[in-house]
Amino acid sequence: MPVLSRIKRPVKKEMAEFEAYFSKTMRSEIPLLNIILNYILRRKGKQMRPLLVFLTARLNGVIAESTFVAATFIELLHTASLVHDDVVDDAHERRGALSINALWNSKIAVLVGDYMLSKGMLISVEKNRFDMLEIVSEAVKSMSEGELLQLQKARKLNITEEDYFKIISRKTAALVSACTACGARSVTDDPETIRLMKDFGENIGIAFQIRDDLLDYEGTGLTGKTVGNDIKEKKITLPLIYALEQSASSKKRHILGVVKNRKKTKTDINKVISFVSDNGGMEYAELKMNQYRDKALAILDSYPDSDVKDSLKEFVYYTTSRKK
Ligand code: IPE
Ligand code: IPE
Ligand code: MG
Ligand code: MG
Repeated sequence: MPVLSRIKRPVKKEMAEFEAYFSKTMRSEIPLLNIILNYILRRKGKQMRPLLVFLTARLNGVIAESTFVAATFIELLHTASLVHDDVVDDAHERRGALSINALWNSKIAVLVGDYMLSKGMLISVEKNRFDMLEIVSEAVKSMSEGELLQLQKARKLNITEEDYFKIISRKTAALVSACTACGARSVTDDPETIRLMKDFGENIGIAFQIRDDLLDYEGTGLTGKTVGNDIKEKKITLPLIYALEQSASSKKRHILGVVKNRKKTKTDINKVISFVSDNGGMEYAELKMNQYRDKALAILDSYPDSDVKDSLKEFVYYTTSRKK
């Protein structure tokens, strides 16, 4: 059985219901919008966020309607953020197909992303879950801040390891911790539990993004995204930050010059990739990633053994070992 299906087992029924719920919400009366929404629906992602919402809900209680509200809201927002992200990153591939900006254009991608974001917020309002609206809006704010900080750093190419963690905590971990906080919130109002689960998600989220950044260097051929797109976009992530720190200033200047160059060839990109792997950049990023993985696992350890706990454990390992 594929690992994700195995992880899903304790919430299989709910995940199936969620899918129907999700596609129902992704509908509009505007023909162009509908065509694009259908295009997006046909290429679904790994759905790790809704899965995490359901698993954390079950870990802490009995799945309720509000768990579905949170899962749908968050996956809509995640999808919206990917559509916007591909505009920001000038990425032409997503989930193994052309991105919305590549197939239509950036204006359309921005508007479709906005539509999905507002649909998500509306669900929580319709269901009177202002508590969840608050948790998730906070994450949306962080995501924009993270993306902007990243753009600012890409312009000057002066990113430090500290900046990197600030960026990924905002652009990725904020939403993952919203998953675990909302999952818990849908079954309990105990603030201590919600805080603990939020922390759990934050650690998973950081590990998740480090893995994502490693995948950009590894090129497993399974991500459905272009390898080396980060370098192409002057996005300096942890493996490169570390490799740069390890090298003499002349070498450093040379590599930064390659990254800075607007018209990079495949050879340029490969040069940066070799530089990173020769200087232990991937190993270092992996080491850091595993520290966050272990923090997440330690939080889980405070719970008694159960099938959901096992699934969540596997979820955490999957996050840091995934090939796509
Ligand atoms: C990609 O997220 C965006 C990041 C935060 C790195 P996923 O890898 O979960 O994307 P899909 O939904 O499976 O395509
Ligand atoms: C993650 O950033 C996207 C968001 C958090 C919105 P990336 O740009 O690193 O993600 P991918 O690799 O394109 O999926
Ligand atoms: Mg991006
Ligand atoms: Mg991107």
